[in-house]
Amino acid sequence: MPSKFVTPTFSNETTQGSLPLVEGTIGPAAVDIQTLFTNHGILAFDPGFRSTASCKSAITFVDGDNGVLLYRGYPIEELAEHASFTEVVYLLMHGELPVNDQLSGFKKDLLYYSLLHDQVMSFYRGFRRDAHPMAVMVGVVGALSAFYHDSMDTQNPEDRQRAAIRLIAKMPMLAAASYTYSIGRPQRYPNSQLDYASNFLQMMFGLPYREYVVDPVLARAFDVILILHADHEQNASTSTVRLAASSGANPFACVAAGIASLWGPAHGGANEAVLKMLHEIGSVENIPKALARAKDKSDSFRLMGFGHRIYKNFDPRSRVIQVQAKKVLEHLGIDDPLLEIAMRLEEIALQDEYFVERKLYPNVDFYSGILLRAMGFPTNMFTAVFALARTTGWVSHWLELQGENHGIDRPRQLYVGSPRRSYPSKS
Ligand code: SDX
Repeated sequence: MPSKFVTPTFSNETTQGSLPLVEGTIGPAAVDIQTLFTNHGILAFDPGFRSTASCKSAITFVDGDNGVLLYRGYPIEELAEHASFTEVVYLLMHGELPVNDQLSGFKKDLLYYSLLHDQVMSFYRGFRRDAHPMAVMVGVVGALSAFYHDSMDTQNPEDRQRAAIRLIAKMPMLAAASYTYSIGRPQRYPNSQLDYASNFLQMMFGLPYREYVVDPVLARAFDVILILHADHEQNASTSTVRLAASSGANPFACVAAGIASLWGPAHGGANEAVLKMLHEIGSVENIPKALARAKDKSDSFRLMGFGHRIYKNFDPRSRVIQVQAKKVLEHLGIDDPLLEIAMRLEEIALQDEYFVERKLYPNVDFYSGILLRAMGFPTNMFTAVFALARTTGWVSHWLELQGENHGIDRPRQLYVGSPRRSYPSKS
């Protein structure tokens, strides 16, 4: 893209200058500050990275003011309506939707690598049965970095593609096993007749002594959940994966770091926290009290599933999930009081000045828990489902980063500690 010099300059008693402006395909321009420290000896200060573009990326674009999310240019609403998750995986990894026999070949690859090495299953036994599934997933995915050393040369494009496929292909059995282990149920294996979403559901809920019958409404709803959660630009967990990958670390270890970051309640852990919050509110009558707590700065309570660093409008994903949640609840004949509380909470909050002023809207996590609960997922599996979907985004960014050569990511800091001082003499 053409670079224009930015007219605003900076200066202090020792230096002054102006910096080039760089622009992407769409979205805000950026001031290129790469030479700021080397040429002028000063740093840019941006804790929380609210104004910082950490990299160039062609994978996903979010327009927070207008509630737009594009995967390789395709609007998330259209992909949720027309695509399968496997198509979206191919799109995010390769940049284009699969054509001709590319999709069937890709599905074969995913199935070929979908089994977990039998020794991996022994890692689960090291965990207490009541371990949180995300703790188990961090551990087991990290342990996968002890395997496959015969094909883990990240400088080799074939090894990179194989590692990417292995991670995406193995995550369904690995995530399902973090649940079946906790309830002492034997783990089922992938079924070659089922697609990615249905295979996960059968490994998650299937019993060893009878055939698992796929419910097409639930399978499609879960496919949409995977699509919606697959990627989201440089969110905290994806940035974690990129930072780890920049040192050349093993891709399985990088994704384990991403799982750890996603687990936080401010990030992917919010879907589990939303359900707990809705249970805590308990009834529509208690909503005003909950909103008062969310606005009270002396109270650490936040409206989980509300607000977003980038979306200052509706998160387009929350709208799609709400529709799927209603469809599944109706299909299953479930009248979930939590859905009524959630919808009423959204309605009241969006008329409340505190939320309107701060542009706090429901995000992807606000309704996802209600949908997952209706499908039979225990609350502590909600973030594991998010990690299952987001593995595609993490892997796609890992692949994209391999093509860059900006070296290891190593942020600087503004030092506010003690000036140099000497160790006190012991006289
Ligand atoms: C995800 O980054 C991504 O893309 C993430 C994600 C993805 O797909 O990867 O979209 C997935 O993580 C969604 C977000 C899930 N988290 C939650 O739902 C947790 C609840 N939300 C908040 O913790 C918060 O909104 C964040 C963490 C999501 C965003 O925080 P920011 O951008 O740092 O916002 P902030 O803390 O600067 O808030 C600005 C103001 C503050 O009030 P003031 O100091 O201006 O008076 O809004 C308030 C905040 O106190 N605020 C909230 C609030 N979120 C922000 N007040 C009450 N409840 C909330 N949820």
